[in-house]
Amino acid sequence: MLAARGLSAGYGAGPVVRDLDLEVRVGEVVALLGPNGAGKTTTLLALAGALVPMGGAVHIDGKPSRAPLHERARQGLSLVPEERSVVMSLTVRENLRVGRCDPDLALGIFPELGEHLDRRAGLLSGGQQQMVALARALARRPTILLADELSLGLAPQIVQRLLGAVRAAADAGLAVVLVEQHVRSALAIADRVHVLRHGTVAWSGTAAEAKADRDRLLGAYLPLDTP
Ligand SMILES: Nc1ncnc2c1ncn2[C@@H]1O[C@H](COP(=O)(O)OP(=O)(O)OP(=O)(O)O)[C@@H](O)[C@H]1O
Ligand SMILES: [Mg+2]
Repeated sequence: MLAARGLSAGYGAGPVVRDLDLEVRVGEVVALLGPNGAGKTTTLLALAGALVPMGGAVHIDGKPSRAPLHERARQGLSLVPEERSVVMSLTVRENLRVGRCDPDLALGIFPELGEHLDRRAGLLSGGQQQMVALARALARRPTILLADELSLGLAPQIVQRLLGAVRAAADAGLAVVLVEQHVRSALAIADRVHVLRHGTVAWSGTAAEAKADRDRLLGAYLPLDTP
């Protein structure tokens, strides 16, 4: 569905991620883990078409694609970026109307947003704001979801709620690449895992292998886990 083949990308002064090989198939959640500055966001932006590859290519449905982000969005790719992407000055309802989002579908995913429809997003909790961002991304009925640190700074209960919605969408046929700091929560919903370190893939395996090898993996490559 979506693959990086020998992909290098960066910001002008040379690549910050190099020679990446990874792929995600229909119905699969691939977790991208690694310490701060490892290149997770850069990888996601290159997969999304927001950064032009400096080497290698991104393949979509088996064919190399150089389409920019807005074109990939039309082809069914949804990106939830690292910075909170809801518009704080708009109401929840207005946020859900942006783009090709189906508001009813969004409320089907997170019914608890229903009672906040006419509140400005800036007045919601961080968790509720991320629910709006994720619901909006999913309610465009994408085929590929790229999500960057959905759960950053949120309470465990909300993290579970957000990642549970991601897993459910994957089970319904979505292909997901998930960048996460909450390693335990990511492993709980992922099928496969790549650990990035210094801009290259340092470890790859199934989520089951990652769980079995978690202590070594965490010690070697990842920051201390949070619950
Ligand atoms: N816009 C930019 N211009 C130049 N360099 C950048 C830019 N964004 C990131 N970098 C550099 O690229 C490297 C990888 O950053 P990236 O944001 O991809 O890491 P990350 O794994 O997402 O980190 P974090 O966990 O902190 O989000 C870092 O050294 C960073 O300083
Ligand atoms: Mg990042």
